[in-house]
Amino acid sequence: MWRPLVFGLVVHGVFGMLAVSMMRWALPWWWQKARVRRAIKVTPVVGIAAMALWMLSMALGLGMLAYVAASVSAVIALTELALVLTLPLARALGRLGGGQRLDAQPAPEPSQEDEPSAQVVAQVPEQTAAAAPQPSPRPATDAPTARQAPPVAGLTRRQWIMQGAASAIPLTIGTTAVAGVAAGSELTSIRPMTFEWSDLPQELDGFKILHLSDIHIGFYIGLHQLEQLLERAEAHKPDLVLVTGDLSDDLDRLPDALNLISQLRAPHGAWASVGNHEYYRGIKRVLRSHERSEVPMLLDNATTLKIGGAKLCLAGADDPRRLRNDPGAFLSQTVQRSLRKRPEDAFTILMSHRPRGFDEAARQGVELTLAGHTHGGQLGWQGRSLLFPDQPERYMWGHFQKGQSQLYTSSGVGHWLPFRLGCPAEAPLITLSAQVPDATSDH
Ligand SMILES: [Fe+2]
Repeated sequence: MWRPLVFGLVVHGVFGMLAVSMMRWALPWWWQKARVRRAIKVTPVVGIAAMALWMLSMALGLGMLAYVAASVSAVIALTELALVLTLPLARALGRLGGGQRLDAQPAPEPSQEDEPSAQVVAQVPEQTAAAAPQPSPRPATDAPTARQAPPVAGLTRRQWIMQGAASAIPLTIGTTAVAGVAAGSELTSIRPMTFEWSDLPQELDGFKILHLSDIHIGFYIGLHQLEQLLERAEAHKPDLVLVTGDLSDDLDRLPDALNLISQLRAPHGAWASVGNHEYYRGIKRVLRSHERSEVPMLLDNATTLKIGGAKLCLAGADDPRRLRNDPGAFLSQTVQRSLRKRPEDAFTILMSHRPRGFDEAARQGVELTLAGHTHGGQLGWQGRSLLFPDQPERYMWGHFQKGQSQLYTSSGVGHWLPFRLGCPAEAPLITLSAQVPDATSDH
């Protein structure tokens, strides 16, 4: 509990303070508003409080409160991080819009807050000020006050547009963070899809596989959410459940998670492969949990099921554990090792947490590869990831095909950062077919 709390405090402390300082630097006309200034300053404090509340409610078992606090903390952390990255652009736009004039002005006293007095005068371009009529010696009660002056008085159209554009950056970031975290909190959808092989054994025609990847039981996904997902999935009567890694970030809850999956009552059971988070959390303990469960782990290994007269080979590849520039060689070797027991006449499904295992799988003639790991980048558009759109060989999200070999990369059941836009959490329900129906639900 203490490690994530300290991490959160550092994130909110460092990025929060940095964002506050940069806000003053980039948007000085905001900073002159006392209410805005107070809101900006208090944001990191709210982030830290939400983080502490999250940890406390986790310890007390208050699931809903923990989720709300976690979401608030995530929105603020994402906003702070994005602000630090984008405020230099706002600063540049602001300067183009005359923001440099405001830079030099001291902040008003609290008693004058939100009243465009001295700063409005400062926004008046010099030539405008020079051309303005001098105040007449009328009584003070008749003099025009700053309160009556429009806040953009004296700004040229170009300055007004540029300062508006600069102000839009943090507003857009804040709105996007809220929308992304709200979308990331939505229920995982069960997505039916059908893939075709012309030589599919008749006994496997219509065979349904529930593909669970990247569940990430932990801070954002609890056993309760997994149980609800499995209840909904059971209504689709899957024949087999395949779990392609990153099942639980909390090994104390892994046995219960495995128990829930095995209770789905799929006729041909549930099988798992390893992901990088299994290594991060402790592979020995993970393997022990699988050994004691009814969800065997296939690690560089394979098993063959008899479906009527057909053979269905399930293989599980290893994971390179760390980020590598080129995991290709590792993945080629592990895919080859995992297929050693494959009968020649079996229809084969490879579980490879890393989708790039598909390259070797296609070379080996594996009919179907199921993968995860990428979470689809958690940013998508029309069923494709917005990350690395120019690099299809990364197989970020969705259905891919090379000859008779097909791959589906899931965007994941869960995540460790609850932010998704256009890339919802999913549990694909894949039907094997010898013939494509009229309208496939695949992309
Ligand atoms: Fe993952």
